[in-house]
Amino acid sequence: MTEKQAEKEIEKLSKEIEKHNRLYHSLDKPIITDYEFDQLFQKLLELEAQFPRLIKPDSPSHKVGGQPLDQFEKVSHERPMLSLQNTYSPEEIEDFEQKIKRQLGTDEDIEYFCSPKYDGVAIELIYNKGVLDMALTRGDGVTGENVVSNVRTIRSLPLKLDLKDPPPRIDIRGEILLFKEDFALINGRQEEEGQPAFANPRNAAAGTLRQLDPKIAAGRNLRMFCYSCGFKEGIDFQTHSDFESFLAKVGLPHMPFKLKGKPSKKSLSLVCRGAKEVIDYYKEIESLRHQLPFEIDGIVVKVNSYPMQQQLGNIARSPRWAFAAKFTPEQAKTKVMDIQVQVGRTGALTPVAIMEPVSVGGVTVTHATLHNQDEINRKDVRVGDWVLIHRAGDVIPEVIEVIKEKRPKGSKPFQIPDQCPVCKEKVTQLEGEVVKRCMNHLCPAVIKESLKHFVSRNAMNIDKLGSRLIEVFYDEGMVQSFSDLYRLTKDDIMALDRQGEKSAQNIISSIEKSKNTELHRFIFAMGIRFVGEQTARTLAEHFKSMDQFLKTNKEELVELPDVGPKVAESIMLTLKQKPFHKEVAALIKLGIKTKSMKKVATSGKLKDLSFVVTGTLPVSRNEVHDLIRTHGGTVVSSVSKNTSVLVAGEKAGSKLVKAEKLRVEVWSWDDLQKKLS
Ligand code: IVH
Repeated sequence: MTEKQAEKEIEKLSKEIEKHNRLYHSLDKPIITDYEFDQLFQKLLELEAQFPRLIKPDSPSHKVGGQPLDQFEKVSHERPMLSLQNTYSPEEIEDFEQKIKRQLGTDEDIEYFCSPKYDGVAIELIYNKGVLDMALTRGDGVTGENVVSNVRTIRSLPLKLDLKDPPPRIDIRGEILLFKEDFALINGRQEEEGQPAFANPRNAAAGTLRQLDPKIAAGRNLRMFCYSCGFKEGIDFQTHSDFESFLAKVGLPHMPFKLKGKPSKKSLSLVCRGAKEVIDYYKEIESLRHQLPFEIDGIVVKVNSYPMQQQLGNIARSPRWAFAAKFTPEQAKTKVMDIQVQVGRTGALTPVAIMEPVSVGGVTVTHATLHNQDEINRKDVRVGDWVLIHRAGDVIPEVIEVIKEKRPKGSKPFQIPDQCPVCKEKVTQLEGEVVKRCMNHLCPAVIKESLKHFVSRNAMNIDKLGSRLIEVFYDEGMVQSFSDLYRLTKDDIMALDRQGEKSAQNIISSIEKSKNTELHRFIFAMGIRFVGEQTARTLAEHFKSMDQFLKTNKEELVELPDVGPKVAESIMLTLKQKPFHKEVAALIKLGIKTKSMKKVATSGKLKDLSFVVTGTLPVSRNEVHDLIRTHGGTVVSSVSKNTSVLVAGEKAGSKLVKAEKLRVEVWSWDDLQKKLS
C-alpha cells in the first residue's frame, strides 16, 4: 500500500470508528458487535504502525494510549478556572437565592440549572476547529498542565466534535472521575502488584492523570462529565441549558437533564425555578447518592441565563452566579480497639483497624482498612487511638486521621509482623512493593481466600457457599482445593452442625449449577495473579477453550490487548506448574463445562502442528485462527524453527522471508482448505 492509499484508508477507518464510538458511548445504540469494532480498530492500529507519520491528533487510536512523555507542558488557561462558594444546608440555599435576587434587583424566582457535584478532578478541554488539542488540569486556576495524552484515552470523549462547521475554538470544562467499580478493580490490581492502594476514586483519577505513560490511563477506564464552558470563539449560548444541549449534540459526555418534574436515574440534572425547587432537588439527589455508580459530594446550582450570569460577575475567585450545596460529610469519630492483620488470596498482609461500632452516614462501621505499613506509618495509627473515619459509598471505610490529643499514654507504633499471622511462615517483601506477603502456597488463609474467590459471583458464582461455610469446610478438612467442592455430597454437608437436609440440598444444587459456566469465569476463578475479570474475558475470547489456553506461550499472550509482559509472565508461571494442570483436568472431569468451550478435536487434521498466519486472507485473521484450533492445531504469533506451518496470504512480508530462511513449510489459503476438506 502506498502512503497516499494508507492516508485515505486511515481517514475512512477513523471516521467509521468515531461513528461507532458515538453510537456506543453517547447514544447507547451500538449497531455493530464488539468483535467487529475490534476488527476495525485493529486495522487502524496496523496501518498507523506501518505509517506512523500519518497518526493524527484526533485519531481514535489514541484511546489505547500513545507514547510515554518526559513531562507535562505547563499552559495558561485562557479564562481562569474558578472555584465555587459552598453552602451546607437548605437555609443557606435560601440565603443564596436572596442574595442573587438582590444583586439582580428582581423579586421573581430565578431559573437555575442544577447538577450533581462530581467528586473528581476538574479539567479543561481545548477544541481548536473541533479537534481536541489540549486538556489542562486546573493547577492554580491560572496555569495548568496539559495532560491530553491521558485524556484522549477516555472512551466516551470525542477527539473531534460531531459538527459540520466547528467553531475556531471552544474550551469545555468538566470533571474526570472513576466509577466505583473501576476504582475497586484498580485498587485490587494495585494491592496485587504490591503498590499502595488509592484512598478514594478521586485520588485514583488524579493519580492516573499524572502518569506520563498514557497506556496506564488507557487501562483504567476514566470517565468524564462536562459541565461548563470557558473561553469560546465563534459560538454563543443564551442559557446554560442551551450549552448542555450543545454538549449532547456534539457528542460530549454530560449528565442528561430534564426541564420539568423530578430527575430520573438517567437524567440527574434538572432545571429548577426558585430556592424551594432547588432544595427538593438537593434532597432527591442526596437520597440517590449511594445508588450512583460514581461519587458525588453535593449539587452545583448555576443561574441558567447567561446574560444574568454576566450581570452577576465574580467575587475574588468564585462566580456570584453559581454555588455548591454540599452534603453532610460522612465522617465519625471512634476508638481503635485492635489492629488485626489479614492474609489475602495472593498472600498479601493487610492491616485492619477493629473499632468501637459507630454510625457513619446511616451504616454501622466496625472495621477500617489501613492498607499497608507505609499508610500506618504516615497516619501513625495505634491501638487505643481515637480516629476520624470516613465512609464513601461502597468503598471500605477508612481512617482519615488520628486525633492525637486523645492518644492514651504509653501507646506504641504498630508494626506488621514478620511472620504470617496464620501459618507462621516468615513473610517476604518483594523489591519495589510496599506490601508484605506470605509466600506459602499451603497457608490456610491463602487457600481459604482462593476458595472464596473461586465461588464468588463473578467467578463460578456458587451463591449458596458463603465465606463462613468455606471456612468451616476447610477447617473440617472437607475441602482443600477447588475440585474438592465438586466432590462434596449432601451427607458430608448434613454431617456438619446446623445443616439441615434442605439447606444441604440447596448447597449441592448451587454447586451443581455452577458446572455449566462460561470460559472467562472459569479462567478468572482459577485465581492466576494479575488475571482480573477483563483479562480473563480477553483470554477466553482469544483461546475459546481451556485446552487451548493451557497450551499457549508468552509470545502469543503479549500480543493480546491488555496483556502486558508482566501479566504474560505471571500466566506462564502458573501454566508451568503441573498441579495447576492437574486441578483444571480434575475440574473438567468432575463436570465443569464452558459454553464457548469447543471440543478440540484430538484426532484433528492439524493435531500437533503449530501455525503462524500472515498476509491478507479471504477471511479475518481471527477466523483463520479459530479454524486451525478447531482442527487441533495451535496458533503462535511469530515464526521460529519450531513453527510447523506458515499460512501466507497476499502481501505476506517479513514472516514469509523468515519462514523461507528457516525452511518452515508455507501454505496458501487454498492449501489449508484442501488439507481440511
Ligand atoms: S460548574 C465556576 N458543575 O467543583 C465553576 N463544577 O468546588 C463552575 N464540580 O471547580 C463549575 N461538579 O471542579 C460545576 N456539576 C458541576 C460540578 C463542578 C463538580 C467541581 C468543579 C469546580 C469545583 C468547585
